[in-house]
Amino acid sequence: MRWTLAVLMVAGCDGSTAGEEAAGGANAGAFGKSDGVGSVLDSQPSLFRVGDRNGWTGSDPFYDTIQPILAQRCVVCHGCTDSPCQLKLTSYEGIRRGSSPLSMFEPRFYAVKPSPLESGRVTGDNGLTDFDATERNWRGKGFYSVTEHADFSAMSFLVAQGFENPEPTDLKDEWKLFNQGADGNEWACLDAENVGPDGPPDDKVAARGMPFGLQPLDPKRYETLINWLALGAPPPTPEAQALLATPTAPETVAKWEAFLNQDTPQAQQAARYIYEHTFFAHIYFPANTGEFFQMVRSRTPPGEPIDQIATKRITSDPGVARPFYRLLKVTDVIVQKQHMTWRFDDALLERWDDLFLSTRWDDEVAAPVYEGHNPFVTFKPIPSRIRNRFMIENSYHFIDAMVRGDVCIGSAGHLGPTTT
Ligand code: HEC
Repeated sequence: MRWTLAVLMVAGCDGSTAGEEAAGGANAGAFGKSDGVGSVLDSQPSLFRVGDRNGWTGSDPFYDTIQPILAQRCVVCHGCTDSPCQLKLTSYEGIRRGSSPLSMFEPRFYAVKPSPLESGRVTGDNGLTDFDATERNWRGKGFYSVTEHADFSAMSFLVAQGFENPEPTDLKDEWKLFNQGADGNEWACLDAENVGPDGPPDDKVAARGMPFGLQPLDPKRYETLINWLALGAPPPTPEAQALLATPTAPETVAKWEAFLNQDTPQAQQAARYIYEHTFFAHIYFPANTGEFFQMVRSRTPPGEPIDQIATKRITSDPGVARPFYRLLKVTDVIVQKQHMTWRFDDALLERWDDLFLSTRWDDEVAAPVYEGHNPFVTFKPIPSRIRNRFMIENSYHFIDAMVRGDVCIGSAGHLGPTTT
């Protein structure tokens, strides 16, 4: 599968929403002109607005105005782990991280850099992303900014280029993507020296505009995005971040986290097994308020802000004596290929409690150790009957995750090196 098939979850997939042309709305004009450019969305709830998806009625210029534009027109390509130039536009953290010219699948990349976006995210004392620290972290790993230098930023340049030259690319040529595979397309990422006010990006890239090979942004969206970039791409407010990151049913989260973080070595083994088979899922609860969660490893126990442990692989040594398994609320724009939903209800909790913890496996069960990546060795302490039942009862989810998954170019992922 190619990155072009990374389809937005929202219906339509053509970048339009009902009533999108309607000006005004509760958050109108945050970055638009005062002459009635207004909000890019109408005042009705929209899947493009993460606040709406999370049952949040507050307002924030970034979440309400900028993120919907990127969701509608950009994340279809810039929404997976191996997005072009690794530029992931599904969250403010991703925008701030920027790009890397290296391929995700090259051995040298694997050798020196962790892959998922989350691995460079730094969480402050308040549990929110510390954008400055996160940015420094990624710069140290070779990522460069696409929003620095405001009007002269790489993103401003490419979006303007796309707006002013509606067909900057040879579209006929772009079909090479489909009959020669992605390698047939001469992608060209900027490199760090080219980004900034000292000169235009090199000719190859200058010939392109964003959105790549598609119709340009309409004037209202264009102006809104460009104005935001000219202001230095300001982040969402801490209040908005905090509201979005807070679950509406904390007691349900607490119940699951209590189950997953019991002290006995047997319970720790079970939790690790569950985590390593559910990390990909967008978990939701029966009330289904539109909130989704991902199970992550944290340095901190339930009750404290999550301090996510980011590792190259989910099976890697967490680097702490005991990781805690926590449910982290998803606040990014959701794309279909990452949206592998899994309902966590009381019946499932009882079933897993019964399956893993109702019998004593062995007097000698020790806490998990992290040596090697062979699951048959790693999970040997768990009786095979239990592992077998778990795999069969939840097979739908494992197959779903194998068929989809967070890569734009699936074939590249399969063919990629398996070193480290
Ligand atoms: C159809 C797929 C597609 C869409 C949609 C798309 N892009 Fe891109 N983007 C690319 C590709 C491919 C590249 C690699 C550069 C090249 O070959 O031109 C790229 C590169 C970029 C870069 C430069 C990254 C670098 O480091 O060189 C920026 C910035 C960017 N895109 C922003 C956007 C924005 C903003 C939008 C939405 C308005 C968008 N893109 C929509 C495919 C897309």
